[in-house]
Amino acid sequence: MAKLSGAGAVAPSLLLCCCCCVLIAVLAGQPAAGDDAFERTVFEMVNVAIRGNATVQGDPRVGPALIRLLFHDCWVNGCDGSVLLDKTPADGARTEKTAARSIGLGGFDLIDAIKARLAAAGGGASCADILAFAARDAATVLSGGRIRYAVRRGRGDGVASSAEAADAALPGPVSSFAELEESFAARGLGKGDLAALSGAHAVGACHGSSFADRLRPSVAAAYQINGTYQLALVARQKLLLLQNASDSATTMMNNVRDMDPAFRAASSYSGVGVDTAAAGALDNSYYTANLQNMVLLKSDWELTQDEDTLARLVAYRDDAARWNKDFGEAMERLSSLRPPVGARLEIRKTCRLTNLSPGRAVVHALKSFLRRRYDQISGLLKYFNAGLM
Ligand code: HEM
Repeated sequence: MAKLSGAGAVAPSLLLCCCCCVLIAVLAGQPAAGDDAFERTVFEMVNVAIRGNATVQGDPRVGPALIRLLFHDCWVNGCDGSVLLDKTPADGARTEKTAARSIGLGGFDLIDAIKARLAAAGGGASCADILAFAARDAATVLSGGRIRYAVRRGRGDGVASSAEAADAALPGPVSSFAELEESFAARGLGKGDLAALSGAHAVGACHGSSFADRLRPSVAAAYQINGTYQLALVARQKLLLLQNASDSATTMMNNVRDMDPAFRAASSYSGVGVDTAAAGALDNSYYTANLQNMVLLKSDWELTQDEDTLARLVAYRDDAARWNKDFGEAMERLSSLRPPVGARLEIRKTCRLTNLSPGRAVVHALKSFLRRRYDQISGLLKYFNAGLM
């Protein structure tokens, strides 16, 4: 084969060089020169909100909140910003964020602030895109730059958001492994994604009512949270309080790593391989905690009950780099879940409200109402026809 020479040889090497530059920019995770103002603005605002700067104090709750918000948005009818809506013409104020499964959701104010900053600069980003990038940047910041993945733009904002739909679609804290697997499979995600994404519970907090079921002496011992962990709660006089299923006032850190050293010692937590000084970091320490049965949610414990998934938990505990990579890839898939074909989408002016004018809102609500009734009536007709045949 003839060797390339002169300009012919330069072109491929130039191309290779360009590809490497793009790759380095993407891998660096920082907004690179040439990235548009959208990405820079989102990254800067998320970074400052989490870490703070000379004028703004950092908020440790906001990073975990953004990551969870993306999960809740994309799980219900795809990534369409529907979790951000305060009310819609068809659903009134009973939107996704008011669902029982949405307990503790946060990050809304930061999304509003990013939207306002972009709008002031003449940018027309959808709320769904802002959330997808904000969650990505939160993962990068909380992991100290170790988690990086690409996110594409182009999501539209949905005009429907129902609390009932959210409660029906989202897995709950007491879901069984089979239910979790089914919920993921329904969205084209596998057991590997379930194992990798659950690692997000390395950060953030949980309300007592979400895990009270794992603290009762009446439930099987294997299903309860580790006994020494419970003893540490007794020492803090928190056990009785948390056993109350309706306790939605008390919260605990998701990750035993983030409890103070005295609590960790009292609970006999083994932090081998964990950077216990890195409180609040998004890393693979969730797997160390889960394999000691020191996670709060039953849904987390359920992962240890499936053989393949248990093997993944062990692999992620022992290989931080592997989890960082798999988590990023699974987040990319999560961020790419699409709304159903034919769903009405727009670029909202404000993330909390649809753009519909009051007149069009009435027509839209009427159409949704009639469509629902039509579906019910045609369902009934099919049922009767089947009975007559
Ligand atoms: C697999 C099924 C899942 C279930 C059943 C589940 C359930 C929950 C529950 C009940 C809470 C605590 C809510 C409270 O009491 O305040 C929580 C917190 C959290 N979840 Fe999940 N989750 C799941 C998957 C995910 C996924 C896929 C992600 C993201 C990739 C995620 C990210 C988070 C984060 C970051 C928090 C802490 C939020 C904060 O502190 O503001 N979860 N989850």
